Amino acid sequence: MSAMISIDHLGAAERFSMVSWTVVPRPIAWITSVSPAQENNLAPFSFFTIASTDPLILMVAIEPREDGSPKDTLNNILATREFVVQIAETDRVDEVARSGADSPPHFDELAALALPTSKASRVLPPVIDGCAAVFECELVETRSFGRETLVFGEVLTARVSERLITESGRIDKAALRPLGRIGSTFAASTLLPRSAAPAQAAG
Ligand SMILES: Cc1cc2nc3c(=O)[nH]c(=O)nc-3n(C[C@H](O)[C@H](O)[C@H](O)COP(=O)(O)O)c2cc1C
Repeated sequence: MSAMISIDHLGAAERFSMVSWTVVPRPIAWITSVSPAQENNLAPFSFFTIASTDPLILMVAIEPREDGSPKDTLNNILATREFVVQIAETDRVDEVARSGADSPPHFDELAALALPTSKASRVLPPVIDGCAAVFECELVETRSFGRETLVFGEVLTARVSERLITESGRIDKAALRPLGRIGSTFAASTLLPRSAAPAQAAG
């Protein structure tokens, strides 16, 4: 067994790098939001998880821009209290990457990438067509322990792609192509055989 090396002495940035390459893989929330002036916005966020199952609440951590100003997604969510989380699969990796490029405030990534969208049913931000899952969310709370703002959104309504549902109404594991983040790279997850999972695993 190899020895463990402490990372406590590292600076915040280096320690974070170690964490981002080890607390993995991270799912990616591909978030659409609108500004009060009705400008669309799209960006990916991998500090993203399920914060609560009932009520169903998703959490995303949004850092400030390098100049310290808030990102458009956070500004929009705080102003309108609405956002949509899309779960993209590996075939959308280029679009996800391009939507996360630094762009000027108020830049419409949806239009720039010519992504086909539909109207959401409970909120104003548009829904990107063809994603594995779509969660229409309402802001319930924000919290901050430092640089990041943690955004908690209650899922008002959710949909899963018909392509991923089996005849018995379960997720078709063979059809799912999860796109995630490991460190600062994209990752595709492969499923291990069922025997590798504990019998009663919850998560
Ligand atoms: C795959 C991926 C994951 C990202 N995850 C995060 C994240 O968790 N938190 C964050 O603040 N920025 C994250 N970013 C960077 C934002 O997407 C980026 O700053 C984006 O330009 C923000 O756009 P906005 O100003 O339109 O909100 C990520 C970028 C990529 C490509």
